[in-house]
Amino acid sequence: MKTAIIEGDGIGKEVIPEAVTILDYFNETYDWGIEKIYVDVGLGKWERTGAAITDEDIALLKSCDSILFGAITTVNDPSYKSVLLRIRKELDLYANVRPILPISGIYKLLNIRDQKEADVNMIIVRENTEGLYSGIEEIGDEKSTTTRVITQKASARIASFACGLAFGRKNSLTVVHKSNVLKSDKLFLDTCRQTAESKGVAVSDKLADIFAYDLIMAPQKYDVVVTTNLFGDILSDLGAVLLGSIGLAPSANIGDKQAFFEPVHGSAPDIAGQGVANPIAAILSLKMMFDWMGKKREACLVSRAVAAAVHDEVVTPDLGGKYSTKEVGNFILSKVRQLDAASFCLEDPEDLPV
Ligand code: IPM
Ligand code: MG
Repeated sequence: MKTAIIEGDGIGKEVIPEAVTILDYFNETYDWGIEKIYVDVGLGKWERTGAAITDEDIALLKSCDSILFGAITTVNDPSYKSVLLRIRKELDLYANVRPILPISGIYKLLNIRDQKEADVNMIIVRENTEGLYSGIEEIGDEKSTTTRVITQKASARIASFACGLAFGRKNSLTVVHKSNVLKSDKLFLDTCRQTAESKGVAVSDKLADIFAYDLIMAPQKYDVVVTTNLFGDILSDLGAVLLGSIGLAPSANIGDKQAFFEPVHGSAPDIAGQGVANPIAAILSLKMMFDWMGKKREACLVSRAVAAAVHDEVVTPDLGGKYSTKEVGNFILSKVRQLDAASFCLEDPEDLPV
């Protein structure tokens, strides 16, 4: 089993090492035999070499089973192409999975009173290969267009994937779309509906604008949500409001053979180098990697250890704490060890915060 590690730029270099120490702990303790391969891509590499990612890097990533990724800074230069989008496309990582499940105790820590943690437990499944991210654009001085591509094949594939998640949960799926205006979304909606019906999953749908309102006002109405690329991008950042901080939002980009795990936050150049970035989104992304690998107990231990950090208020300044990235990472690692030694999560590891 090979796992690529991409720290990337900015705070990616600070948060990923905290996740890696936890991976190392399990890999060494339980002899998992995971080979780590560090891959250097991103703005730093572009400045040094003129290429943010090379064909060799892509080939190397294709040879790995999973990828743990920090963040990359994208600059506004016509010759700079998004590394993240290239990796998603070339590795055909079609399902972008963004769980909206608050860490137990986080609302108390942040003094959030108008929302209940128990009401928030959904997964936003974002189609990751087409829609407004098709890359088909004509840019002019007076008119610019971007082509929104929706295919039956990609819509059925993402709907099947979302149904797979729904099976293990409430067996219900909500399709989020804007087919009252975008006729391309009629194909998305119809295909998702047919797919869900053929699999025996209860399906409903919601227009994207009112869904945005509901997401904050009535999140208890939703469980597994499937949507197109740009809506998923925007709605998952909005959903992170329900987590208490974007620094707590993990994600997975899943394909048929490989998967790529990344915190939703970016490289945050404004706070990079200060040692204050929240490592929890990166650590929960590792937790998602453990789930994907079928290592349910280890995933459960990581969730518990993260919840312990929140409970004991060992958190970074974005959550009102005074601890550094390293201190929070060290605390979570020591909790993982302690819970592991105490045989936690041995039976029926619950799926706690993702
Ligand atoms: C995300 C990001 C990316 C996206 C950017 C960095 C290209 O916002 O993963 O949500 O738009 O998909
Ligand atoms: Mg985004």
